[in-house]
Amino acid sequence: MAGEKRIGILTSGGDCAGLNAVIRAAVHRATHYGWQVLGIEDGTQGLLTRPVRYWNLDLNAVDGNMMRQGGTILGTTNKGDPFAYPMADGSRKDRSAEIIGGLRELGVEALIGIGGDGSMAILRKLAQLGDIKLIGIPKTIDNDLGITESSVGYDTAVAVATEALDRLQPTAASHDRVMVLEVMGRDAGHIAIAAGIAGGADVILIPEIQWSIEGIAKKIRRVQEGGRNFAMIVVSEAVKTAEGTIPQREFSDGQKRHGGIGNYIGHLIAEATGAETRVTVLGHVQRGCPPSYRDRLLASAFGVKAVDLIAEGRSDRILAWSNRQIIDVPIEEAIATYASVDVDGTLVQTARGLGIYLGDFN
Ligand code: F6P
Repeated sequence: MAGEKRIGILTSGGDCAGLNAVIRAAVHRATHYGWQVLGIEDGTQGLLTRPVRYWNLDLNAVDGNMMRQGGTILGTTNKGDPFAYPMADGSRKDRSAEIIGGLRELGVEALIGIGGDGSMAILRKLAQLGDIKLIGIPKTIDNDLGITESSVGYDTAVAVATEALDRLQPTAASHDRVMVLEVMGRDAGHIAIAAGIAGGADVILIPEIQWSIEGIAKKIRRVQEGGRNFAMIVVSEAVKTAEGTIPQREFSDGQKRHGGIGNYIGHLIAEATGAETRVTVLGHVQRGCPPSYRDRLLASAFGVKAVDLIAEGRSDRILAWSNRQIIDVPIEEAIATYASVDVDGTLVQTARGLGIYLGDFN
């Protein structure tokens, strides 16, 4: 496509590894078309201030080192839905017109939004109201967007959780302990099952499969009877207690977030088996680190393709990785396609085939 053109790019929702690699790739590809890229700060928040907060992103701004960096150079937000924005007096206000005004002020014809399903739903509404072309790029360590086999950030999170198990194993063996590792994954057990298999766990608890302390204790006893003096347990943060609740904590923003199931399970295991038990909560370590090579590849491929789609005049599409290549699907379809762990799928079968305790319905 010929001529000067401006496109915007923003990151939205929780950060993860690989976001900077997407931005870098998009800038490279846009430069090829002779376009200007404006990086909007802090998701849609940057469009609410006047003047709008943005960076001019050219090749000098996106050196090779950027691909190695965790986080997002643009900043992000997982608060402040512009259609029901929380105001200082406690009320909610529709500030969507201000955001659209911000995009107009920047003069961008198209926007690349890097986010999860919640962010995509908001960006889509804004793009429709403002008549702005939108291409979405899926990112979430939770990997729960059904249209893509992998979202940016997921592979790195699994690698970090696997490495945590590698580090816990020798200390578990040295002290004859049961080690419990609590991993993230808001509603789905993707990180837990992948890292649990790769890291040699004896027990993997995911929200998709019901567990019992009798089942866990039986597995630990079997391990001990087999002559091994330690055991490794992975628990997804979204696993429910025996009473059917997900342990949560309230934060200063008034929002509740998952956390605490690891300690709960650790306690029960110590009581049921008498084993010395220690709990590690991995938390945001899974997000803020250099991306794995797979996330760098995925992010780079997504960044290039997003710009190519804009060049083709496409809009309202989100990219996905499927069968060794990138495809694009309607954003509406993507946000309606949630993927929890398939309880009949390959990973569950693999775990069971390895003798890992997943729940009582083996
Ligand atoms: O959705 C990504 C995620 O990291 C979840 O796995 C986790 O439950 C949540 O975000 C944590 O949110 P926050 O960064 O706001 O603490």
